[in-house]
Amino acid sequence: MLITLSVDLGLRSYPILIGSGLLSQAMVLEPYLKHRDVLVVTNDTVGPIYGRPLRGLLGGCRVNTISLPDGERHKTMATVNAVLDALVEGRYGRDAVVVALGGGVVGDIAGFAAAIYQRGVDFLQVPTTLLAQVDSAVGGKTGVNHAGGKNLIGAFHQPLCVLADTDTLQTLPDRELSAGLAEVVKYGLIADAAFLDWIEAHTQSLLQRDPASLRHVIRRSCELKAEIVAQDEREHGRRALLNLGHTFGHAIELHAGYGEWLHGEAVAAGTCMAAAFSQRLGAIDSAAVERIRRLFGRLKLPVDPPPVDPGKFLAAMGMDKKVVAGQIRLVLLDRIGTARISADYAPHDLADFLREQFVR
Ligand code: NAD
Ligand code: GLY
Repeated sequence: MLITLSVDLGLRSYPILIGSGLLSQAMVLEPYLKHRDVLVVTNDTVGPIYGRPLRGLLGGCRVNTISLPDGERHKTMATVNAVLDALVEGRYGRDAVVVALGGGVVGDIAGFAAAIYQRGVDFLQVPTTLLAQVDSAVGGKTGVNHAGGKNLIGAFHQPLCVLADTDTLQTLPDRELSAGLAEVVKYGLIADAAFLDWIEAHTQSLLQRDPASLRHVIRRSCELKAEIVAQDEREHGRRALLNLGHTFGHAIELHAGYGEWLHGEAVAAGTCMAAAFSQRLGAIDSAAVERIRRLFGRLKLPVDPPPVDPGKFLAAMGMDKKVVAGQIRLVLLDRIGTARISADYAPHDLADFLREQFVR
């Protein structure tokens, strides 16, 4: 069954194709490629598994492939430069199409290289992790990390199409599957309480990779993300809600060293911190905070950060892209399914919160 959703952005609108076996449907990418020059960007883990099926969809195109080293610590300008070198050495022109085959790391690097090569060439996302299928492949945020902060270097650059073959999730390590579920829970928390109920009722079938359950969460997550991105592509307002738990989470990732905590794991613990801080400010109640922690626990995700050095942690949070005039704006929860962005707390509140709850 093929599910087709749309990200509605006027002339830059594009489809999200979700389904089983898409990587064996020979003509599925034909409308987007039309015999153009293609550079496939993948990594040393995903390329050997899915590179060959993907090439089966690229008939009629000139195709080169670059395989990057695997891992979040390689999401840097060095790998972007490697992709740019491959484009230059392959004499790719402005009609090139960069195809990202892999998880969020490959997608973010390849998309950013496509955004800046010859001031922007087309790119296409073929996400192979749950996290990338529900989140990173959709919405056009591309970029890399800097030693001083997560995703600090980047550009908005929308893909031509997102092709999510749900069969690829069967080879994903368990820890990566859980990391993707953290972003799925996020959508329920910020925008759809009924979806959160559904996730709670289906934790076992999700962890067991039941195809229908995975299809449902990918579809609903992409519907919610597409709606938010269509309203606020450049994150001037509502899109920031998609960063629930991320200001805390990015600080955990930086604190621990990129790649030690998976992005989704940091988001889960970061969301629990955001929920606890919301409760401290009199927003969400303690029963809801406990409910969120229980759900992440059942999904085999961490609910607490590693021991925190409040000064360093706050400094890392201060590099967040939502900071305005030095104020860290946080996504806070009013109740399950309703969130808001706020800087409405006293400066010492956050430092006290970190010191009282997370210094061990
Ligand atoms: P990832 O890209 O590192 O992939 C996780 C691991 O799974 C890697 O080792 C990868 O090689 C492997 N893998 C991928 N597909 C596989 C498959 N089908 N079978 C077996 N192994 C497979 O991590 P991720 O969780 O996909 O993405 C995390 C990144 O996404 C972070 O850098 C995060 O900042 C970024 N992100 C970006 C956005 C955005 O809007 N652009 C949104 C959320 C997250
Ligand atoms: N993952 C956050 C966003 O796309 O805005």
